[in-house]
Amino acid sequence: MSGAGYDLALDQAAEALSAAKRVLVLSGAGISAESGVPTFREAQTGLWARYSPADLASPEAFAKDPERVWAWYHWRRSLIARGGPNAGHHALTEMANLKSLQIVTQNVDGLHQAAGSRRVAELHGNIWRERCSACDFHRLVPMAEAEGDGLVRCPDCGALLRPAIVWFGEMLPATALAAADEALAAADCVIVVGTSNQIYPAAALVDRAVAGRAPVVEINPEDTPVSRRVTHRLAAPASRALPALVAHLTT
Ligand code: APR
Repeated sequence: MSGAGYDLALDQAAEALSAAKRVLVLSGAGISAESGVPTFREAQTGLWARYSPADLASPEAFAKDPERVWAWYHWRRSLIARGGPNAGHHALTEMANLKSLQIVTQNVDGLHQAAGSRRVAELHGNIWRERCSACDFHRLVPMAEAEGDGLVRCPDCGALLRPAIVWFGEMLPATALAAADEALAAADCVIVVGTSNQIYPAAALVDRAVAGRAPVVEINPEDTPVSRRVTHRLAAPASRALPALVAHLTT
């Protein structure tokens, strides 16, 4: 989207955001795309166009070939650390200085927190968190230590550590889901950014948002299953639309 259509949609979305007190942001891989972190479902560049989720992001894959799974996650950590947060992440940190803002993300890259966002609920875990496959040991690895490689073992019991990520077939963390429910009930504006809205239960939050009373702003260069049902559609990259929305709030 460009020109008058985008400008009008941006003005209308900014008005809805300006009138809001409590903003909920539902983010997906697209907000990190401009940090050089591949999304999942985009044709050719998406991770699932090149790798099979079943071979890399499931408990069975980890049991079968933990070295391969760790190599993939070490590679993804190095991309995330190299790219760092982009203007879209930083705009949300700035927005949180102007509005009560809760981020609920499907992303595991930790880039919202790296940009300074504090209220971040992670539905799918965090690639920088590791937990023991046998005891309750867990730790957060600083992004600066991204250049890891090989298997990682528990310092307490010696069993394998695994990325503290929700793999296919696993339950989402109850705390993150509870935070999402609470924020959805309280929100008087919802921003859906960078998600194809195809993966449940995360996508159910978007369905509930578009069925609710609060205005919903979708930021995505491509159409998604909810694009026709949102209140305001900004067909633009996150690193362009989010700073523009914040600029409207501060003028
Ligand atoms: N700005 C905003 N959106 C973008 C940008 C950008 N610069 N670039 C791409 N997008 C959009 C794409 O158009 C697409 O709709 O981001 C979306 C990414 O969709 P997916 O790759 O499906 O990622 P996501 O929706 O986050 O996937 C959800 O699926 O595999 C699981 O656990 C994984 O958390 C992931 C979940």
